[in-house]
Amino acid sequence: MNAHTPINHPALDKPDTMALAKQETMLTPRFYTTDFAALDAIDVLPVRAEWDALMAEMVSDPNKRHFKRDASFDGVIDRLEPELRAEFIDFLVSSCTSEFSGCILYAEIARRTKNPDMKLLFRLLARDESRHAGFINDTLKDAGIGLDLGFLTKAKKYTYFKPKFIFYAVYLSEKIGYARYIAIYRQLAAHPELRFHPIFKWFQEWCNDEFRHGEAFALLMRSDPKLTSGLNVLWIRFFLNAVYATMYVRDHKRPMLYKHFGIDPTDFGFRVFRITTDITRQVFPIGLQTDAPSYRALLETMRETSDAIDAAVAQGGVVGTLKRVGLSLKAGLTFARLYLHPVDKMDVTPNVRMAPVW
Ligand SMILES: [Fe+2]
Ligand SMILES: [Fe+2]
Repeated sequence: MNAHTPINHPALDKPDTMALAKQETMLTPRFYTTDFAALDAIDVLPVRAEWDALMAEMVSDPNKRHFKRDASFDGVIDRLEPELRAEFIDFLVSSCTSEFSGCILYAEIARRTKNPDMKLLFRLLARDESRHAGFINDTLKDAGIGLDLGFLTKAKKYTYFKPKFIFYAVYLSEKIGYARYIAIYRQLAAHPELRFHPIFKWFQEWCNDEFRHGEAFALLMRSDPKLTSGLNVLWIRFFLNAVYATMYVRDHKRPMLYKHFGIDPTDFGFRVFRITTDITRQVFPIGLQTDAPSYRALLETMRETSDAIDAAVAQGGVVGTLKRVGLSLKAGLTFARLYLHPVDKMDVTPNVRMAPVW
């Protein structure tokens, strides 16, 4: 796409998907940059056999022909009832932005690293994410509301993370992405009458890509035991809580979407957390107690506080601003309590690789 071509600008009656994609809030997907030179020093020797097997699988490109839309997509978004359409579009924009965010980070690493293992991995990752983002964007374009991804590359702010933080954040987002897509896929496979858009039929093979991507980051972390021990366990705990809390709060802002999936967003969240925790045994020595009533109560407080912040922002003026400041403080304290909630110790699996069996 040419970044200078003003395509897909929303017509007056169309939702402004570019504005949605450009939003910078605690809940919206971020764009990242990192220390590219530091990645050159990575050595996958301790996990070489598993690494080579994974690379061979990715080079074979099992999903090469998977991401082709067909005529069943035509006009579906336009025919959805308005509330569902708005939330579904928000879901697609947020998914497309996060797929694309992965794509540009991975492509930039592939371009700048001199380490041949990293170059190969990140080139393959960028290939897949570009396909995923393009596929969702084609779906948005059906409704005349596609994103201008070239423009988004320039418009979004980039958050700098050291490579190890990229590994924690990206590993978790690949694995939770797998867990989310497979949970939705299974629900709609069991209840095809609820499948209001054909894109969900693509989710199984799609999430296998995400699963493989996560495997690569698991191998990278296992190749350097320092990354998952000592003080770094505190960072892992931070990222687990941040990712889980963000997902929980954001999914509850789409009640119509989940109603149409026939899943309660709370049940969905805990199902996804359980799958993710099961998978992260391959590398993280701790897991969050997401089934403990005390942890769940804190997530609920987080959700209520976030809704109250939205209401305060909508109210505006001095009173709204004061309320927002107080509530943001409450959200910060609630996050601290989530962080300090007891965790489960986990025995890391002997082999790193897992199969996507959920
Ligand atoms: Fe993806
Ligand atoms: Fe991915």
